[in-house]
Amino acid sequence: MGCPPYQSDFTELLETAMTAARQAGSILTRYALSGFRVEYKNPINLVTEADHAAEQSVIDSIRSRYPSHNFLAEERGRLDYGSSPYVWIIDPLDGTTNFAHGFPAYCVSIGLEYQRQSVLGVIYDPTRDELFSATHGGGAHMNGHPIHVSETAILDQSLLVTGFAYDIRETKQNNLDHFVRFALRAQGIRRTGSAALDLCYVAAGRFDGFWEVRLNPWDMAAGTVILREAGGEVTNFRGEAHSLYGQELVASNGLIHEAMLTVIQESLDATPPGA
Ligand code: IPD
Ligand code: CA
Ligand code: CA
Repeated sequence: MGCPPYQSDFTELLETAMTAARQAGSILTRYALSGFRVEYKNPINLVTEADHAAEQSVIDSIRSRYPSHNFLAEERGRLDYGSSPYVWIIDPLDGTTNFAHGFPAYCVSIGLEYQRQSVLGVIYDPTRDELFSATHGGGAHMNGHPIHVSETAILDQSLLVTGFAYDIRETKQNNLDHFVRFALRAQGIRRTGSAALDLCYVAAGRFDGFWEVRLNPWDMAAGTVILREAGGEVTNFRGEAHSLYGQELVASNGLIHEAMLTVIQESLDATPPGA
């Protein structure tokens, strides 16, 4: 990575992100208690007042400290304020469907790229008051305590997690093929409805592995930093370097990574070309 920021820069950046995440988390909690309007992006893709309010709060909070930094935020898109090499990648409410139903599995996710390299991630779950954080080379933490991936080395004994995109009804790349295979190979599979929390939970050893197709950069930006810093591995489906802009992801404790890639490859090989 060319010209990485100095560690002291990380400290201030991290504090800024943690404050912004907690403030946005309070906004989510207030809306969860008071009620909120819901709009539909498609029949199963919701957005609420809380998404917009939390996103604006994160942007305002970070901009007050770093006015020339740029943003990629789920609801407002790309916001360029200057030529800074820093881009904050924000999902103000990951787990919107859960939030709308009162199911307590959602979070605020704030990632940071410096010269297109992911350098920082902060994810806050206001329902459990759990703040996950990591900076490049600085390790991963949950509420200030170091976290580490699990030591499960066998797929048969692994608890995996996955998710399904909002276009599940329209595309054949809907992950159901991979899901069927993993269901027969893992000890168990969960679907939490928050990709950002899924990455944190692999980082914390609560899950052993996570895979998903058709994710967006804001779903993965913070969580992939947290996972790597917790000792985990993240790649695309072919085991190559992961890209925030490449939609697919396999994340694991490292020990079961090859086994997960093999299952995905078996499933891809079983799909007729053009299907
Ligand atoms: C969604 C969640 C979900 C994943 C979807 C995402 P949102 O994000 O992360 O777990 O399966 O693909 O779009 O809409 O709740 O921010
Ligand atoms: Ca999301
Ligand atoms: Ca979201």
